Amino acid sequence: MPLVTSTEMFKKAYDGHYAIGAFNVNNMEIVQGITEAAAEVHAPLILQVSKGARAYANHTYLIKLVEAAVIETDLPIVLHLDHGDSFELCKSCIDGGFTSVMIDASSKPFKENIEETRRVVEYAHEHGVVVEAELGTLAGIEDEVNVSAEESSYTHPEQVEEFVSRTECDSLAIAIGTSHGAYKFKPGTKPQLRFDVLEDVARRLPGFPIVLHGASSVPQEYVKMINENGGDMPGAVGVPEDQLRKAASMAVCKINIDSDLRLAMTATIRQYFTQHPADFDPRQYLKPARQAIHDLVRHKIVDVLGCENKA
Ligand code: G3H
Ligand code: 13P
Ligand code: ZN
Repeated sequence: MPLVTSTEMFKKAYDGHYAIGAFNVNNMEIVQGITEAAAEVHAPLILQVSKGARAYANHTYLIKLVEAAVIETDLPIVLHLDHGDSFELCKSCIDGGFTSVMIDASSKPFKENIEETRRVVEYAHEHGVVVEAELGTLAGIEDEVNVSAEESSYTHPEQVEEFVSRTECDSLAIAIGTSHGAYKFKPGTKPQLRFDVLEDVARRLPGFPIVLHGASSVPQEYVKMINENGGDMPGAVGVPEDQLRKAASMAVCKINIDSDLRLAMTATIRQYFTQHPADFDPRQYLKPARQAIHDLVRHKIVDVLGCENKA
């Protein structure tokens, strides 16, 4: 099966009240850990590449790794550009074999966001590629852009119909209280996503796929493992998994997870070196890291996203 777009996946996810996991990939072990877990439980997948990942690993290497995963797993896999920040970057990924791109002009004024998104949609649709756009801004760090909690804002539901009809984007990321990275909420507080905003958006856009960024739940066992093995992470708090489950049962069809993969990988490697201080063969420490990613992704698919056996 070749790489696919998310059109069919999202339709089934919307009607079936589940979500597809969109996991960020940066190297071979991450691609293998994610795709081997998805293959075991027959789950459709979105593998996403950020501008930073592309700069780190090179477009061709990442494309070929994902193509290898398609051959090995025979799963429906979407290759998606995460947080494209310009028409030129989106065009380069469309020309280079991606099946989906995100144009993130959410920090720009409404009118400019529409114009930039519309430009990408026209080019993408001419080439059979789908487009995710964003309205509202999330707090946190992505590539060089650092949005503080004060600057972030929830999506205004009254803007979504005009935005989607004028841009003709295929899915829409909205801000309902999640943020990027491992420090999403103040330790000791009870995180609460704005489901009222999601409901209002869904009512205004019936059948339209919504995307949730910043959806890592920051497993405390990994934070603990990092800190017990030489790390120094202050109170890191993520999105409770029951709230992700609820979002997946609503209009959210794509849930983005990156930080949890980083935590799993880093915690495992730190622990490995504590236990094997004299080792220096990368295969010895990357193997358990890959396994940790596998276990985490399997858990997300089966216990949170609900997309097991939906491939
Ligand atoms: O939303 C951002 C993703 O976690 C990607 O992070 O830009 O550091 O690759 P990155
Ligand atoms: P996390 O930082 O919560 O994993 O979010 C990832 C993301 O939204 C990628 O676009
Ligand atoms: Zn994101």
